[in-house]
Amino acid sequence: MNEILQKISEIRIVPVVAIDRAEDAAKLGQALLNGGIPCAEVTFRTDAAEEAIRIMSSEFPEMLIGAGTVLKTEQVDRAVAAGAKFIVSPGLNPRVVGYCVDKGITMVPGCANPSDIEAALEFDLDVVKIFPAEAIGGLSLIKAMSAPYTGMKFMPTGGINAGNIGKYLEFKKIIACGGSWMVDKKLIAEGKFDEIERLCKEAVEAIKNV
Ligand code: 3PG
Repeated sequence: MNEILQKISEIRIVPVVAIDRAEDAAKLGQALLNGGIPCAEVTFRTDAAEEAIRIMSSEFPEMLIGAGTVLKTEQVDRAVAAGAKFIVSPGLNPRVVGYCVDKGITMVPGCANPSDIEAALEFDLDVVKIFPAEAIGGLSLIKAMSAPYTGMKFMPTGGINAGNIGKYLEFKKIIACGGSWMVDKKLIAEGKFDEIERLCKEAVEAIKNV
């Protein structure tokens, strides 16, 4: 694992953010930091993503800010120029993965089956996202799928929350879990940053003995 993935494995929770107004980015970053999660995957599901990455990366250099839902190589360029330190995608698009690998950009593509993992191995990746984790079989699927690929590590997202994150992280091939539960779009839109902070603290508390 490279240095960025190493940091993600220390933070262990990756909030998956969809933010509508870039002006909320600083407050969101502060809430995540106060809540004990110095990391965010800001998804290109909204037009504000690029600017939000720029604001969070520059205002909080101690945070690890990445870009999610990256479907095109031009989004990789925009994300990295804005300060993103890692790129995540829901699936494995060989063009996007190859583009990142060639440029030395940390890329965590989504995998849902063994063929996806083998495609990731072709790029010498050692960490993949498992998406949508709960819907495709959760921890038991990850355990079964990890058996043949001994060097591969996982970052599941999709359906993970404070109630089940602990059981995922107990499996040592899972370096971190992603999720939107503590940064629900509605909470951001309604300015409920105290609640976001509380949910982050609850998540951190849920994994403290794992
Ligand atoms: C993702 O892109 O990783 C997911 O949308 C996160 O899934 P969740 O909303 O179920 O946490």
